[in-house]
Amino acid sequence: MNPVRANVDPSYDLAAWREAARIALQAGVPPEAVTWISAANDSLISGVDASTLPASAPSSKVPASFLSLAGAVLCHRDENRHALLYRLLWRITHGTPKLLAISTDADVHRAYELAKAVQRDSHKMKAFVRFRELANGSDDFVAWFEPEHWIVDRVAPFFARRFAGMRWAILTPYRSVRWDGAALEFGAGQTRADAPDYDSEETLWQTYYASIFNPARLNPRMMRQEMPQKYWGNLPEARLLPELIRTAGERTQDMVERAPLQVRRRVPAALAAEVAPQRDDTLISTQREASRCRACELWQPATQTVFGEGPTDARIMLVGEQPGDQEDLAGRPFVGPAGKLLDRALAQAGIERSAVYLTNAVKHFRFERRGKVRLHKSPGALHIKTCNAWLAREIQLLKPRAIVCLGATAANAVLKRDVQLMHERGSWQPFADGVQTLLTVHPSWVLRQVGGSAREAAYQGLVRDLALLTTVALSD
Ligand code: URA
Ligand code: SF4
Repeated sequence: MNPVRANVDPSYDLAAWREAARIALQAGVPPEAVTWISAANDSLISGVDASTLPASAPSSKVPASFLSLAGAVLCHRDENRHALLYRLLWRITHGTPKLLAISTDADVHRAYELAKAVQRDSHKMKAFVRFRELANGSDDFVAWFEPEHWIVDRVAPFFARRFAGMRWAILTPYRSVRWDGAALEFGAGQTRADAPDYDSEETLWQTYYASIFNPARLNPRMMRQEMPQKYWGNLPEARLLPELIRTAGERTQDMVERAPLQVRRRVPAALAAEVAPQRDDTLISTQREASRCRACELWQPATQTVFGEGPTDARIMLVGEQPGDQEDLAGRPFVGPAGKLLDRALAQAGIERSAVYLTNAVKHFRFERRGKVRLHKSPGALHIKTCNAWLAREIQLLKPRAIVCLGATAANAVLKRDVQLMHERGSWQPFADGVQTLLTVHPSWVLRQVGGSAREAAYQGLVRDLALLTTVALSD
């Protein structure tokens, strides 16, 4: 067969590659006869242009899993990726439809390797982009980032969702993307000089970072792995690192990943009303305030404040006791073993976790150190009372219809009286106008039950109590 040239422009575009591959496939051009080109090397390669080929075979159905793999692989810088994908496509449509399941196959293996590298790069972009405010008072934010692969188009929708209320641009050497609050617009690459270098929020961010940075947890090797040195130039907190590392122990990915996104979220006033309900904004600003709370001594040994989480129009609020070890590290409530059990119980009761707002009576993890292990220690009455300022604001801002108290600590904190949990559980108690509370056991208590049948009975009891919630609308 005569050599065929297939053009993919831009080289990372799935639709462009798909169109070229479809034509070549229908014309029956085998993989070894195609030279894949992109705009850059176009004129140097001879052969028949694939787009002029007549179709000779009916179009074939391609599995969705192949297209999603191809979408990721195309974003890799590897110059042979178009040919690799076409080879896979050819084999899938010529006798090996389940090819992707054969992980020992060299082509399949390579494709997944490329896709994984692209995923890693995308993850880094999500974690390490830092917006800076333009000094001209326009409320526009700009970030500079140097991705390893062609991932800007792939990752941009994430930023559009996450920072919907900001006007921002991300500049990279090969492509830029702008969000005006309504649509994404892509443009040419830029140079670093086009991005601002410093702004006033940076000082705030540095202070915040230093305050959440737990020296006992610093591990410089892990840190370099998670926060590669090549990005440090763009990260305001990186300026603090030499000093912080000098004084310290171990570090976790979640802190790096989550905290910046929360603290730097800015919604310009003009857009706020359209993009997010006022309530959302206030709950977020409360979370921001709580992240700096030092009202009791629990903040100091803990990693970070673990604030509530969930839809701001949720009608059901679940209140636990305090974050545990994993919650403390992740900065999110109910992500450890008790959280997993709670998720399961909620699902069994017919309620999705993502539809409810989850929080705790106390926002910092209280623990006792035993060697490397941090053992849960119940919060004291004063901690609960002090931290109630945050819980009360969450209730006031979220305006739930139902508040579920998981365990006695939550029940005391919400109802402000001694509670006989085992007598009062499983029934609605009035809380305030139009708001009911439901008391039930704590998922950790279920986990502590000794013996399979006792644990199972405790679990079913929790499910039964939670099932009472199905009479409450999940949102307005
Ligand atoms: N236990 C709680 O009370 N809250 C959490 O967030 C996790 C475990
Ligand atoms: Fe503030 Fe509550 Fe943390 Fe105490 S436990 S420092 S009151 S957020």
